[in-house]
Amino acid sequence: MRILGIETSCDETGIAIYDSSSNKILSENIFSQASSHAQYGGVVPELASRDHISKLLPLISLTFHQAKIKPRQIDAIAYTAGPGLRGPLLTGAALANSLSRGWGKPCIGINHMEAHLLVNLLEKPSPAFPFLTLLISGGHCLLVKTIDIGKYELLGQSRDDAVGEAFDKVAKLLGLNYPGGPEIERIAKKGDPRHFDLPQPMVKEDNLDFSFSGLKTAVYYLVKKKKKLDMNFKSNIAASFQYAVSETLINKCNKAIEENYLNKLVIGGGVASNAYLKKRFKENIPNVELFYPRQERCTDNGAMVAIAGFYRLSKSKNIDKIDIKPKWSLSEI
Ligand code: KG4
Ligand code: ZN
Repeated sequence: MRILGIETSCDETGIAIYDSSSNKILSENIFSQASSHAQYGGVVPELASRDHISKLLPLISLTFHQAKIKPRQIDAIAYTAGPGLRGPLLTGAALANSLSRGWGKPCIGINHMEAHLLVNLLEKPSPAFPFLTLLISGGHCLLVKTIDIGKYELLGQSRDDAVGEAFDKVAKLLGLNYPGGPEIERIAKKGDPRHFDLPQPMVKEDNLDFSFSGLKTAVYYLVKKKKKLDMNFKSNIAASFQYAVSETLINKCNKAIEENYLNKLVIGGGVASNAYLKKRFKENIPNVELFYPRQERCTDNGAMVAIAGFYRLSKSKNIDKIDIKPKWSLSEI
């Protein structure tokens, strides 16, 4: 089977064609709008929708051209139906619908978080079920017991800010560009992770939920007290923030692994591209096999939607119902 994947849930237009017989992506393209949103310090949904509209068709043509196949040689179209921003989701869903009718191919709406999870199945070696999944993105922080395709048990989630959101907000407090994650990671390299003793919210609580807003507030007060934000101060804040985030995530992952007798941990979502976090996970989550998607497939991309489309089609009859669900939870699948 060959599936065209279309991702437009936020500020990335991602297109890919997945081939199930080789378990390979034949070609993929991504257009990141980050620079258009940087001046506003975050994603402006209306601008994002307009950019998707102008980029979708050229990227789809390019992707077919690079894969050296024609639309008649694909079997289905998969698009992100949610969770995400309503306007951007609608652009992808509307185009997927039109192409589906024009080409006479089935069309299926994909859950964005399931796509972040399943993209790991493209890697070699890929994780065998069951495993624990930690999804850390701009909109979510989820711990999921992943029993099989479509069998997801939500073990814990953030009660307030998502991890990526906390990275973005702390970066903004430090006067860094959007998206904040890569900026924090960059300047943290020169900082001391133990310089500021930042809170590690909820680590002592007997549950698998997270909270990151207190951590961001602690940074806010440190920044407020300081008259001039010199580079040394910013780097120490960034390093101490990353350390506190890593300790919280490690603590909850270890707890979830122990309680659920799992020995594999799959990590996905934009924040999973952070090399410091990866190093800390490796050092502090012992006796567990760790899996990540390749760097460019941690953040939003079309490949994850295409492979999720393949697995969904093999499980679900609910196709051709064009819809978006901006607040679609993984536990509702
Ligand atoms: O998965 P993703 O591309 O989009 C959502 O589904 O939200 O994740 C985007 C988030 C942003 O908050 C961004 O700051 C964060 O991932 N991010 C990072 C890094 N690269 C992207 N956070 C920490 N370190 C990074 N290197
Ligand atoms: Zn995402």
